[in-house]
Amino acid sequence: MSKNVNIDWSNLGFNYIKTDFRYVSRWKDGKWDEGKLTEDNKLSISEASTALHYGQQCFEGLKAYRRKDGEIQLFRPDQNARRLNDSCKRILMPEIPVEKFIDACIQVVKANEAYVPPHGTGATLYLRPFVIGVGDNVGVKPAPEYIFCVFCVPVGPYFKGGMTPVNFNVSEYDRAAPYGTGAAKVGGNYAASLYPHELATKKGFADCIYLDPATHTKIEEVGAANFFGITKDNKFITPKSPSILPSITKYSLLYIAENYLKMEVEERDVLIDNLDEFKEAGACGTAAVITPIGGIEYKNKLHVFHSETEVGPVTKKLYDTLYGIQFGDVDAPEGWIVEVK
Ligand SMILES: Cc1ncc(COP(=O)(O)O)c(C=O)c1O
Repeated sequence: MSKNVNIDWSNLGFNYIKTDFRYVSRWKDGKWDEGKLTEDNKLSISEASTALHYGQQCFEGLKAYRRKDGEIQLFRPDQNARRLNDSCKRILMPEIPVEKFIDACIQVVKANEAYVPPHGTGATLYLRPFVIGVGDNVGVKPAPEYIFCVFCVPVGPYFKGGMTPVNFNVSEYDRAAPYGTGAAKVGGNYAASLYPHELATKKGFADCIYLDPATHTKIEEVGAANFFGITKDNKFITPKSPSILPSITKYSLLYIAENYLKMEVEERDVLIDNLDEFKEAGACGTAAVITPIGGIEYKNKLHVFHSETEVGPVTKKLYDTLYGIQFGDVDAPEGWIVEVK
């Protein structure tokens, strides 16, 4: 390692820590500049930037993992690049070429190598790419200029001392509208989720579940993660809807369930009135990997799946396989891993 950063890797949470370098590229007159690493963690932008007023911004989240042999790898960064571009298209921002996105991530990881946690701690280096509309602009229209930035922070394992199930309640609020921006990773969806999240945590829940905004009968998201359930006949089920963020972890689990665990898989409606069909349930995403769902409170009744204290066996197998692939301990499907060299 290039330098000693004096971090207690086993006690890391999910908090901002200023690392040494971040990547910044600017878009002007129809093109992105080459981009460069900088030590400055402040951005100076016009007070009239669209990102500040009209929410013209989007972001991504992915991780760098240290393998047992000490090398570092990224998990499916091309998928994050593609999703970032889908978000950009939805709110009229210029796309980032996939190779530029991956190169930016690699540059940031290499420049901050000392912050990539050791293998075996469960901790990782979380990368936060984002694009914002900047420049002088008062009317509601796309910005004249854009900034693409990638910074990183070392983050701890989501589960301290094992995979402990958590409970969720069902929100009366929506995070996104039908035909709105639910499938895009834009800040507005997260601003809309802050209040329902606070209501849920004040009642002692880990977060809230969002139902489909049109009929409020189907499960969409579990806070900032996707939902999956394991049916009593062992099928992996996850909701399908145009207002869900297409989780890269979820699509990876669909593949793992089908090809590694030989399960039947299905993306389809999951009715909140039919939770009985599942013997296990979980939330999945980059930050959480998999969080087992103990129970869901709906209409003042708590529906418990496998257990409120123990992770179910299928959820555990899915977790072990995904985690193993991400940290290089289990063979990955072709194209999932990008080595940082
Ligand atoms: C709303 C929402 N749903 C789901 C996810 C999980 O997506 P991924 O697995 O790509 O991290 C995230 C996190 O990015 C999210 O913010």
